[in-house]
Amino acid sequence: MSSVIPQPVVAKLTSAAIFLVVTVDSDPRHEETVRALCGDLASLLRGVGFRDPDGRLTCVMGFGSDAWDRLFGKPRPGGLHPFREIEGRHRAVSTPGDMLFHIRAMRMDLCFELAAQILSRLGDAVATADEVHGFKYFDARDLLGFVDGTENPVDQDAIDAAIIGDEDPTFAGGSYVIVQKYLHDLKAWNTVPVEQQENIIGRAKLSDIEQADAAKAPYAHNVLTNIEKDGKQLQIVRDNMPFGDASKGEFGTYFIGYARSPDRIEQMLDNMFVGNPPGNYDRLLDFSKAVTGTLFFVPSATFLDDV
Ligand code: HEM
Repeated sequence: MSSVIPQPVVAKLTSAAIFLVVTVDSDPRHEETVRALCGDLASLLRGVGFRDPDGRLTCVMGFGSDAWDRLFGKPRPGGLHPFREIEGRHRAVSTPGDMLFHIRAMRMDLCFELAAQILSRLGDAVATADEVHGFKYFDARDLLGFVDGTENPVDQDAIDAAIIGDEDPTFAGGSYVIVQKYLHDLKAWNTVPVEQQENIIGRAKLSDIEQADAAKAPYAHNVLTNIEKDGKQLQIVRDNMPFGDASKGEFGTYFIGYARSPDRIEQMLDNMFVGNPPGNYDRLLDFSKAVTGTLFFVPSATFLDDV
């Protein structure tokens, strides 16, 4: 098991990313094209990435539940299932997606070139369901103006949070990832006094300092997403990115969360959308609408090489 190499799930944060979600055509020839890419991805990545080693180009490839059965059959990862829609105070929609490519680099040209190379290999085997180009915004802020990513686990803590170990030995070195594309109503958000915005997030807006626990509102984002099991915090690895289209007035956050089990991300989502207790929901959602939602399994790099 120690020889299994994970995909670069736990990569250092970058200034650019492309989130590419595709569906796979059901023709067996097309499924073969996708399987062939699994073994070739590493070489494509070397080809593009070597042109600027400081650009830190990485790509994580994930598979949706139905696609897994069609492409690889049994055995299947223990926690893999289609994203479950949540209907609470707000709605977390479930949208189609057979494969995710999470492409990160310090330069958008590297991300773009790799995405284009991948899509040219896949040809008409796939159709794009969603493509989002994310950028870092000032001090790693989201478009709501708050620094996003501060409490992310790093180093060994990130590996412990995101990479499957002995609990599913066949898929050790793998991970689960949930993506959601959020659109913000910035006009409405900007009418909320900063003090109230800070209570919604649970941190100071300018300094990014966390509020004292006793001062936090029960609905603060960092209260509802702070979950525990047996007295231990259950963490996930996030790499959210702002995106938008200024002329359309579109302001978004692309949420991406990796974990060694989808349960913990789903529990956070329940807390946010339904509330904990029910009704005590995340006020961020009054200003942010989830327009996509998909769960993928990320096999190890070793698995991909062996396909
Ligand atoms: C509109 C979408 C979202 C925005 C703008 C957003 C923004 C933020 C911000 C500003 C923070 C505080 C800084 C930090 O520690 O990163 C934060 C923390 C966090 N968020 Fe989100 N978030 C979003 C969605 C989500 C979702 C969907 C989840 C999980 C399913 C999530 C999980 C977390 C977690 C676990 C933390 C750290 C809490 C802590 O331990 O302090 N977020 N988020």
